[in-house]
Amino acid sequence: MKTMNIAVFASGNGSNFDNIVNQQRAKNLNYEVKLLICDKEQAYAIKRAEKLNIDCITVPYKNFSNKEQYELHILEILKSYKIQFIVLAGYMRLIGNTLLDNYQNKIINIHPSLLPSFKGKNAIEQAFQYGVKVTGVTVHYVDSGMDTGNIIDQTTVNIKEGYILTDLEKEIHKAEYDIYPRVLDKLFHKGE
Ligand code: GRF
Repeated sequence: MKTMNIAVFASGNGSNFDNIVNQQRAKNLNYEVKLLICDKEQAYAIKRAEKLNIDCITVPYKNFSNKEQYELHILEILKSYKIQFIVLAGYMRLIGNTLLDNYQNKIINIHPSLLPSFKGKNAIEQAFQYGVKVTGVTVHYVDSGMDTGNIIDQTTVNIKEGYILTDLEKEIHKAEYDIYPRVLDKLFHKGE
């Protein structure tokens, strides 16, 4: 089977993007990261793309009059790169109908909690503050809601006695770096 051409969307640090690329290269996983789409001009993810030698296109939302115009522009870019699948990794915007209609069941996201608990921003902190003993990471399909699409896979992280928030953040990120490339590899292995 041919490798799946993917675009990663990120808004900030981009450590998941970096990891998805590096794991693919190290293990020859069943996808190829062709492009990074970034909505923030200052995002560190852009520097990572340069170092990794992956094309990066920054599309600042503020340059467009509405979400449809913004996503139509992104869609043209995706088409020109022959992108088959979109992987959100710290992309801080809801996906609109333009991308959802053109990439039906072909957009996934990673969220740092065991959904449906702790949706939205600061999910690691939300779980920590709530005092749950087990939290984790969810990879799910994207629909028009916030962190509401069908779940593909999850992994748990225990919040141990004495943990401070940064301990938990470290463990969550470790879990993310393990699960996301694995899920991608498996999805495309099945030819989905
Ligand atoms: C990750 O925790 C991810 O689960 C969430 O945003 C964070 C992005 O981190 N959606 P990074 O930009 O990949 O370092």
